[in-house]
Amino acid sequence: NNYAVIMAGGVGSRFWPMSVEECPKQFLDVLGIGKTLIQLTYDRLTNVVPDENIYIVTNESYVELVKTQLPFLKANQILTEPERKNTAPCITYAAAKIYALNKDANLIVAPSDHLIIKEEKFARIIETALIRADKEDRILTIGIKPTRPDTGYGYIQFHQDGDIIAGQISKVKHFTEKPNREMAEIFLKSGDYYWNSGIFVWKAKTILKALRKFKPDLHELFCDNFEIYNTPGEYEFVNEAFRKCEDISIDFAIMESAKNVDVILADFDWSDLGTWGSLFDHLDKDVNGNSVKGDNTHVFKSSNCLINLPNHKLAIVQGLDNHIVVEADNRLLILDKRDEQSLKTYLKAIEERD
Ligand code: GDD
Ligand code: MG
Repeated sequence: NNYAVIMAGGVGSRFWPMSVEECPKQFLDVLGIGKTLIQLTYDRLTNVVPDENIYIVTNESYVELVKTQLPFLKANQILTEPERKNTAPCITYAAAKIYALNKDANLIVAPSDHLIIKEEKFARIIETALIRADKEDRILTIGIKPTRPDTGYGYIQFHQDGDIIAGQISKVKHFTEKPNREMAEIFLKSGDYYWNSGIFVWKAKTILKALRKFKPDLHELFCDNFEIYNTPGEYEFVNEAFRKCEDISIDFAIMESAKNVDVILADFDWSDLGTWGSLFDHLDKDVNGNSVKGDNTHVFKSSNCLINLPNHKLAIVQGLDNHIVVEADNRLLILDKRDEQSLKTYLKAIEERD
């Protein structure tokens, strides 16, 4: 009864210029290890569910990328969205389709762009979560011990009784999606918050029930005709639902409101690779703390920089601290690492200017 849903329709704009709309970071070999992030995600999930139970939800424009990178998938394992409406509609669609196939389905919902080291630990945590989800009407999220007041994550306040050990399930008091800096600092100091990894485990039935309660419009659009799923009529029905539905993430739609939320603390190394800074944390550095890629790049009097200039005849970087310098395909980024969450905003502003 166990299924996995990989969300792979985001644009990864905080990873520009390597990640661009035509080919977002989940389809890139960001780590330089010969596999793209979506391939790594798929492999990881094959350890916990049967291959044929892994579904990918993505935008229409990325279907060819998915087929090329995961060529063994059958047509019914690729769910396509005509419009980008964030993760709540994506999850509603997948949950409805899988529920129509199997009323007892348990779902693992996973982002497609994360780095997880120690995969056997990942499998163990997921199995623990699946057992709970299978038995009870609970919404489970995998929690990560926070290390900095990052404003790019959801923060989960949990009930703490005694020592918290990895693999332990705690009830959630409150979920705050992407707090401001001030709140993030308070959460971090308090010690009773985890980051939301964005990996969820629940029964299809449970999440559909939560959607009916907190987002009845969204629920109705995707669920008023279960018979249509897995038939030729699905495509039209779903297209219509996407056209009409709200653009909202699952975090705002459900996680902040639901009362039956549990968190399970992960002990695997995790990075959301959401920004250049989070990749930087995982790269090898020289004595000055720089990570430099590009044979013809020479760095002077600089520290803690991520420099990725592979295609220049000669490049010199001098006097930078805590910066990101990345070029890809004739696009160049020079950004203060402390301001990297704003990259999204800058790109938007440029788009609007054009
Ligand atoms: N199919 C589909 N359609 N997938 C999408 C869409 C969409 O419209 N939008 C985003 N995704 C995919 C992304 O490709 C990514 O794999 C995943 O869904 C999460 O989306 P992000 O846009 O990367 O979310 P986030 O990083 O800002 O925030 C989420 O993840 C954090 C951890 O990385 C939240 O769940 C946070 O609470 C969490 O801390
Ligand atoms: Mg993300």
